[in-house]
Amino acid sequence: SKEGFDHFMLKEIYQQPEAIQHTIERRLDDEGYIQLDDIQLSKLELNAIRKVYIVACGTAYHAGLVGKHILEKALQVDVNAEIGSEFRYNDQFIDDKTLVIIVSQSGETADTLASLREAKSKGARILSITNVVGSSVARESDDIFYTWAGPEIAVASTKAYTTQLVAFYMLGLYFGRLKGTLSDQLYKQHLNELQSITKQVERTINNCIEPAKVIAEKIKDSHSLFYLGRGLDYTSALEASLKLKELSYIHAEAFAAGELKHGTIALIEEGTPVIAIATQTKTYDKTISNIKSVKARGAYVIGITTTDNEDIEQVCDKTIYIAKKSDLFMPILSVIAPQLIAYYTSLAKGNDVDKPRNLAKSVTVE
Ligand code: M6R
Repeated sequence: SKEGFDHFMLKEIYQQPEAIQHTIERRLDDEGYIQLDDIQLSKLELNAIRKVYIVACGTAYHAGLVGKHILEKALQVDVNAEIGSEFRYNDQFIDDKTLVIIVSQSGETADTLASLREAKSKGARILSITNVVGSSVARESDDIFYTWAGPEIAVASTKAYTTQLVAFYMLGLYFGRLKGTLSDQLYKQHLNELQSITKQVERTINNCIEPAKVIAEKIKDSHSLFYLGRGLDYTSALEASLKLKELSYIHAEAFAAGELKHGTIALIEEGTPVIAIATQTKTYDKTISNIKSVKARGAYVIGITTTDNEDIEQVCDKTIYIAKKSDLFMPILSVIAPQLIAYYTSLAKGNDVDKPRNLAKSVTVE
């Protein structure tokens, strides 16, 4: 049931703090270390891994893009994130020194499952991140990380995505400790930061509701909209634009902010809405310059940034502030405003929020 919410999607957005907390807390042992019962990969086996592929579709693929950043740091090997429908036909070099991480909320997505089977037949170790116990993906994997998001009914994925991100942070910590690439001090520090996110997600949802409604009214009649970001803000921009496309039917695209000058900026006209995600400290100033350049060409710019970046107001028409964490953890918080913007825009346009046109919750055909 929707439990008093107008739509499953809104309910699921609000369930995120709880879903995240479940996903974390159930895995901590008495001493506060991560324990993963469904992961058998040993230290020896982990040390033998030379390459990692993360394979998924849609929103789960976007979680994989964040996972790549996390696992490269933790494992210190090459990690590639690939789309299921591409990976299965790409003839990648895969052997028994390859770890393939499959991400799928439903565990039934055809292209993702076919990729799993393809990689398995070549000898890869298969670890899956899924939300459905006993799903095809879970049954055919060597190791499993279950997200404890609870059932996700709305076609647009929200709590499955944020718990998939949590899964990657936890795997990063777990593997980093197992492999010895992470000091005990850093491990504890990161884990604390992850645990404290639950409250911040809750606050971020509450703070973003009103601004998201205002933005929805502003953009609902636009033909196109652009999301900008760099690094992990770019991965959030990709997820943000998918969410807006599938729910509002507005042509939304994500651009790596630094790529604008190589062609994309030609699309900016007077009044074109641009939503810039600027949470990464490393590239913040660069993103500000990119905002200035779209602004100079007439864009209506909405900034999403952390509370310490008030100077952004000088270059944006509107700003949404979110809680601050270290750069690596920002994707969980930076996706919330876009989820709500997509939700309220769909609502404002009178679309079927929970069942957008042409889409199915689980894509079991090619
Ligand atoms: O069940 P899966 O995670 O394998 O589904 C993958 C995609 O079909 C799914 O994430 C889709 O992109 C969502 N509708 C996005 O909101």
